[in-house]
Amino acid sequence: MLDSTSKRILFHTGNKGKFLEASELMMSRGIRLELLSVLKPGIRVIEPQMNAFNEVATSKLRQVLEQIGDEFDDDWIMVEDSGLLIDELGGFPGPYSSYVYSRIGPNGILRLMDGVGTRNARYTASLSVWNGSEIQSFEGFCEGIIALEPKGDQGFGYDPIFIPIEGDGRTFSEMTKFEKSRLSHRANALNILSDAMLVPSI
Ligand code: IMP
Repeated sequence: MLDSTSKRILFHTGNKGKFLEASELMMSRGIRLELLSVLKPGIRVIEPQMNAFNEVATSKLRQVLEQIGDEFDDDWIMVEDSGLLIDELGGFPGPYSSYVYSRIGPNGILRLMDGVGTRNARYTASLSVWNGSEIQSFEGFCEGIIALEPKGDQGFGYDPIFIPIEGDGRTFSEMTKFEKSRLSHRANALNILSDAMLVPSI
């Protein structure tokens, strides 16, 4: 367990949106997130084709750990895998969210959903964390519906077309980072992680 003066996690991600959201939320809990790629450039991670987000995240974390050796022995290391699952599309794009986003984007998803009445979806975020002695996984979810048209200019990825059920009808892209963090899959997973980190050691 970390002591209260060394609460820092090195986050390996190529997604700036994820990093900004996560670091702002963790900062509010007294935990500093740093981009591992800034401290150690050149880490290469191959995204495995697996169906479970936690398996993908753990595989990516193992690849990172192999490449950093014992260089950051006193730090926690984190990797995240996340995605959007749409019920009427059988959970698509799911683990392929990043690839699908780069090929067809939110507008392509809206085209696939053309005429579909039931628009239930959820975001999932799975964190894999090395705490110095073992790998732990933390998962968060956010239920929502796919909007009829994109709205807003905040956030990233599929945020312009995702309306969280627990919100007020706005898409995530119409919310501030702070508002999104009260509801998001990533925030839910990070809250569980920060609770685990902040438990005083006996
Ligand atoms: P990966 O975790 O790097 O495989 O990427 C997950 C992909 O899912 C991202 O590139 C986004 O397209 C999407 N995604 C995950 N979380 C969010 C979110 O909070 N907002 C919008 N899109 C997201």
